Amino acid sequence: MELYMQKNKQNNIFDDINIILDSTIEGIIIIEKGFIVNVNDSLIQILEYKTKDELIGNLATGVLIPSTTEKFIEYNRHIFQEVTLVSNNGDLIPAIIKIKDIKLKNNNYKVVSILDLREFKQKEMLLFKQSRLAAMGEMISMIAHQWRQPLSAIGSVVSRLKFKLATNKIDKEDLNEKLNEVNNYLQYMSKTIDDFRNFFKDDKQKEFLDLNETINNAISMLKPTLESHNIILDKQNIALSKILAYKNEVIQVILNVLNNAIDAIIENEIKEGKITITLEEKNNYQRVYIKDNAGGVPKEIINRIFEPYFSTKINKNGTGLGLHMCKIILEKHLNGTIDVKNEKNAACFIIEFKI
Ligand SMILES: Nc1ncnc2c1ncn2[C@@H]1O[C@H](COP(=O)(O)OP(=O)(O)O)[C@@H](O)[C@H]1O
Ligand SMILES: [Mg+2]
Repeated sequence: MELYMQKNKQNNIFDDINIILDSTIEGIIIIEKGFIVNVNDSLIQILEYKTKDELIGNLATGVLIPSTTEKFIEYNRHIFQEVTLVSNNGDLIPAIIKIKDIKLKNNNYKVVSILDLREFKQKEMLLFKQSRLAAMGEMISMIAHQWRQPLSAIGSVVSRLKFKLATNKIDKEDLNEKLNEVNNYLQYMSKTIDDFRNFFKDDKQKEFLDLNETINNAISMLKPTLESHNIILDKQNIALSKILAYKNEVIQVILNVLNNAIDAIIENEIKEGKITITLEEKNNYQRVYIKDNAGGVPKEIINRIFEPYFSTKINKNGTGLGLHMCKIILEKHLNGTIDVKNEKNAACFIIEFKI
């Protein structure tokens, strides 16, 4: 060891380290007093430079922009800091970093290891798009349910009118009344479309919303589905303070959990299906408890149901994205969490919003 050190004494202290640095997947920058003194091959690739010399000697802040507010992200169970990198041609690259202070031959350096997040972010986007499609599929089936009753009502009004016309038993007043009836049904149908269209609008604006009321909105979209399967929905109504959130996303989370409860009740052929929703407000959080009576989530899978693409609904074309998206939406956008526990013959989902 001693010999080795002596032999290299005259060399730049980074020469030995370079061999090691260049073999890592992470990008590495070594900074002294704010200036880049060394980088590795991976970093050159990430930032699309040709040689190390193009970067060495520059200010580190030229390629590494810290986020305006300190943001941290959990990745592979480690906490990293989120930053943006600037590539050679000016592209902004999302990345996470870890910084370590080291002392070499009495000089202080900062070693910054960098993970390029582009691929990770792209996958996340793809997942988001897929889940949106899945949610749309569920929406369409809800619209179909909403329309079934008014459609058949219109059908019967029309055939009664035809019959009266054929038998010459129609007067003006009668006709007017029937047309009004048809018109009411049509308005109802058109309103359901509007409701769903509003839900899918991409208006990413947080608003102060009443969770109790928002859940009621979600439930009203499901009413026909619940009725057609004779499922009783029992919801507590309580006054809550308003929370700042994306309304559509809150609705999407509630719909996903409710749709799963309905699926479980149908799948397990529960005669008197029942879903119970209770609410709770404490100093720093509001919680929604959604409980069904379909037997609970099987023990063997309960730890996996929030994973993407995990589904037990083979015949029903389950996407396995519903609960995963709930988790992502809650954790990333709504400052919340979702969890599940089994109670007697029941699955209970707990959705929490931090205030
Ligand atoms: N209320 C529930 N009771 C029993 N199992 C459930 C319940 N909710 C979800 N699950 C389980 O979790 C899995 C994942 O749900 P989800 O992510 O919504 O995907 P999908 O509904 O497409 O299967 C379901 O396939 C089911 O096995
Ligand atoms: Mg689902």
